Amino acid sequence: MTEPARASKFFDDKQEKVAEILSRYPAEGRRSALMPLLWEVQRAERYVSEERMREIAEIVGTTATEVKGVMSFYSTFHEQPVGKFHVQVCSTLSCALAGADELYDFLVEELGIVNGETSADGRFSLQKVECVGSCGTAPVVQVNDTYYERVGRGRCQFLVDSLREDRQPPAWRERGGDTVGIDKPGPLAETAKGRADRGEG
Ligand code: FES
Repeated sequence: MTEPARASKFFDDKQEKVAEILSRYPAEGRRSALMPLLWEVQRAERYVSEERMREIAEIVGTTATEVKGVMSFYSTFHEQPVGKFHVQVCSTLSCALAGADELYDFLVEELGIVNGETSADGRFSLQKVECVGSCGTAPVVQVNDTYYERVGRGRCQFLVDSLREDRQPPAWRERGGDTVGIDKPGPLAETAKGRADRGEG
């Protein structure tokens, strides 16, 4: 499908950012800048069009085909627009054993869309993804860049209700020790704020 021409390139007014990203890599490793550049576009536009792929290819000195190839390895990059809240359900073994299938079915029912679809109002899209690297706190749901760990049905309902009201809760990190620090009394899971963020009173 031919894409409509855009007035300007995405990075035209972001030359400082581009220079900063390129400066992280040696000249011969310029292509490594591909990932952070893809992120810039994905974050701003919620997908990476072919036009943007060509632009990134030009910056790092490769082809749009290679950019597309790299993108295809990562479920976080999209070639088509996704919803304002892109809900990703990890469906690999640990999460599957912890109830990810039921969670997915629940989301299908709640959102009225299935894997790979976006709701008519553009608010939600749903995707089953491979392991997101948080197996110890399965099942995990990721919304855009934010992780929600140990998500049961009740928590999932709370999450969806919050998103419907444009209130995306802060991450639910359940790995004991992640949030332990000199300024914090203990794991988020045990704090009143943590419970409130998950809608648990
Ligand atoms: S299996 Fe779901 S985070 Fe690894």
